[in-house]
Amino acid sequence: MANERCRVALFVLIVCAFAYAAVYTSSPAVSVNPCAQTLTRALLAVTGLDPYVVSCAADDGVSTPLLSDGGHDKINAGRVGGPIVTDLLQCRKPEGPDFPEDLQCCPPMPTSEPIDFTLPDPSEPLRTRRPAHVAGAEYMAKYERAIALMKALPRSDPRSFYQQAHIHCAYCTGAYRQVGHPELAVQVHFSWLFFPFHRAYLYFFERIAGKLLGDPGFAVPFWSWDVPEGMRMPLQFANASSPLYDQMRNPWHAPPKLVDLDYAMDVVENNYTDDEQIKHNLWIMYKQVHYIYGSPFLLLHAFVSLSIDRFVT
Ligand SMILES: *[C@@H]1O[C@H](CO)[C@@H](O)[C@H](O)[C@H]1NC(C)=O
Ligand SMILES: *[C@@H]1O[C@H](CO)[C@@H](O)[C@H](O)[C@H]1NC(C)=O
Repeated sequence: MANERCRVALFVLIVCAFAYAAVYTSSPAVSVNPCAQTLTRALLAVTGLDPYVVSCAADDGVSTPLLSDGGHDKINAGRVGGPIVTDLLQCRKPEGPDFPEDLQCCPPMPTSEPIDFTLPDPSEPLRTRRPAHVAGAEYMAKYERAIALMKALPRSDPRSFYQQAHIHCAYCTGAYRQVGHPELAVQVHFSWLFFPFHRAYLYFFERIAGKLLGDPGFAVPFWSWDVPEGMRMPLQFANASSPLYDQMRNPWHAPPKLVDLDYAMDVVENNYTDDEQIKHNLWIMYKQVHYIYGSPFLLLHAFVSLSIDRFVT
């Protein structure tokens, strides 16, 4: 059963990461939409990124692209629209040729009023995340225990691994729609929304892990794939007896092989030597994060999202 869950979660992540690029590259809707006349739309069409992250929903009926950034983009002030607001009552089955028939990842409906988030008490222990490749066996064993505990919870429990995977699924398969614009999906990849969503997602994931372990100071280890020493998948993820194992992962990329940060499912393996792979990985990191981040070409972040998703998995 645990494997089944992992399979669904992994499948969803892979689908989320790649399906949008594939589906929308050839979508004629991209070019007939009024927003298509702008650079942003043109870029989207070229890159095949999800056009839904650019909302035309200002009801102005003209060709101004509206990035849903809440109007905080000072440089593009006047060209940007309102925030993306999720309609929590409109969660639906993911639709599309790339999703399995029986995929359903809406979370259970809340039975009580939601509790507003408050910042943590400063007296709480400071959680320090450590890179997996230097965290040590004891620390990684603790992380494995946390995941085992999450997987052992009943599926209906919002803290279970199953429901945590569902959160990611619901926010990247179009299961949620935007308030007032049910034709617009809420998509947490391919735009500025990527970092805030995943930070919040990890924050609560980590708190659940700490609570289950009885260690409120527990911090999830992170995969430091952007330094050469960290460019292998952490060993525990390739150990078939570990709660971190997922049989659906491609064994070709398991340690001791260096990961290819530029890998895409439908592309042939590049068969680089380790030195070549490290150079290529550093190049892709530089190009995607250091060079592109903060520029008007922010939406090209799709490729960074792919890499980071591997860690979130
Ligand atoms: C694999 O994981 C199991 C369960 O956590 C552990 O007992 C075993 O030592 C691990 N094997 C290796 C080679 O690390
Ligand atoms: C890399 O090796 C695999 C397996 O031998 C092969 O299928 C693939 O075509 C190779 N890739 C390139 C770019 O030569």
